[in-house]
Amino acid sequence: MSFNIKNNVHWVGKIDWELKKFHGDEYSTHKGSSYNSYLITEDKTALIDTVWEPFSGEFISRLSETVDLKKIDYIIVNHGEVDHSGSLPELMRLIPETPIYCTANGVKSLKGQYHKEWNYKTVKTGDRLNLGSKDLVFVEAAMLHWPDTMFSYLTGDNILFSSDAFGHHYASELMYNDLVDQYELLHECIKYYANILTPFNKMVTKKIQDVTAMNLPLDIICPSHGVMWRKDPAQIIKKYMEWADSYKENQITVIYDSMWNGTRIMAENIVRGIREGDPGVVVKMLKISTGDKNDIITEVFKSKGLIVGSPTVNRGILSGVAGIMEEIKGLGFKGKKGGSFGTYGWSGESVKLLNGLLAESGFEVSDEGLRSQWNPDGDTAAKCFEYGKNFALKA
Ligand code: FEO
Repeated sequence: MSFNIKNNVHWVGKIDWELKKFHGDEYSTHKGSSYNSYLITEDKTALIDTVWEPFSGEFISRLSETVDLKKIDYIIVNHGEVDHSGSLPELMRLIPETPIYCTANGVKSLKGQYHKEWNYKTVKTGDRLNLGSKDLVFVEAAMLHWPDTMFSYLTGDNILFSSDAFGHHYASELMYNDLVDQYELLHECIKYYANILTPFNKMVTKKIQDVTAMNLPLDIICPSHGVMWRKDPAQIIKKYMEWADSYKENQITVIYDSMWNGTRIMAENIVRGIREGDPGVVVKMLKISTGDKNDIITEVFKSKGLIVGSPTVNRGILSGVAGIMEEIKGLGFKGKKGGSFGTYGWSGESVKLLNGLLAESGFEVSDEGLRSQWNPDGDTAAKCFEYGKNFALKA
C-alpha cells in the first residue's frame, strides 16, 4: 500500500498489525505499530527511511510499484535503528550507488550494524538537499532518541519528518491523528514518551526550542511510527514540552508483588488511606508480576508519588520488583515522592532496600517506609491506612 500525503509526498511504509512486543521483549505494543517510510517525487526523488527487515521483501516490492527504484536519487536515514534501516541492505543490493544522507553518527550506526561501505553523505543542522522547487532541510536531533537521530523538513509542503519523536506504537489504516480514537492515540504517545524519551527530557526541551526558533511553517508532522499529525500538529509538540518538564498528574501509584498476600493486604490498606488523605487524587494499585511493565512505567510517569511494596526474600526483594526498579532508575524521573512497604517473616530488609532504590532513582523519600512481620493484622492494617493517608497529605 502506498498513500498520498500531500502533493508529491507518499507514505510507503508498513503497518505491523501483529506486533505485540518491540525492542525484543522490552516494549509492549498492544495496538501494533507501523514503520513509516516516505517517498518524495519532486524533480529529484528522495526516500526517507525504510522498514524493519522482516518486511523488506514486501516493502521493496510495493516501493517498486510506486517508483522505478533506479530513479531514487537520494536515501535519507533519519535514524539507523533496525526498525527503520532494516530494509537498507536489500534495497542497496538493487541500487548500490544511491547516496545515503545521514548524520555522522548515522554513518557509525549503519556501518556498525551492516558493515557496508555505502555512498554515505554526512549532513549537519541547516544543510539542505535540493529536490527541484523544494528542499529538504536537515536538523540534527541527537538523543531523540539515539545519538544519530535527525529530523528532515520539506520546504514548500511544510512537512517535518521527525523520526521516532512524536511517534507512537499504534497500527491504523486511518493514517492521520484526527481520524483515530483520541484516547488511544494520547495513551500510546504518553506511553512512548514515558518509556523511551524520559531519560532525554533536557534534550527534548532544547531541540523543540531550537526548531521553534527556526520559524518553519508546519502543516504536517510525519513520525516514524504511528499516524501523521495533520490536525493541529503543534498539539503533540506542546505535549512533549509538558512531558519533558518533570511531568506529573494528581495521581499516586502503588506497585507491589506478594508471595502469600501479606504485602497485597498492606497495599490495599495503603490505597484506602491515600483515598482518605486526598479524596481528589487518582490512585492506581498495580501488581508487578501480573502487570505489563511498560504500562506500569506509564502510570509511574503520570504520578506525583510512587509507593513500592515487596516482601523480604533471601534478605532482598522479589525479582519482579527488582526488575522494574532497575527500569525506573534508568529512566531518571524527577520531582516525585516515594514510599515503600512490605511484609517479612524473619530478617525484614525489603523496605530499607526499596527506600534506597527509590532515593537512588531520584525520588524524594521522607520516611522509613512501613514493615509488617508475618501476616498483617488489624493493627497493621490501621498503620497501613495511616501511612497511605500521610503520604497523600505530603505528596
Ligand atoms: Fe523506531 Fe529508535 O527506532
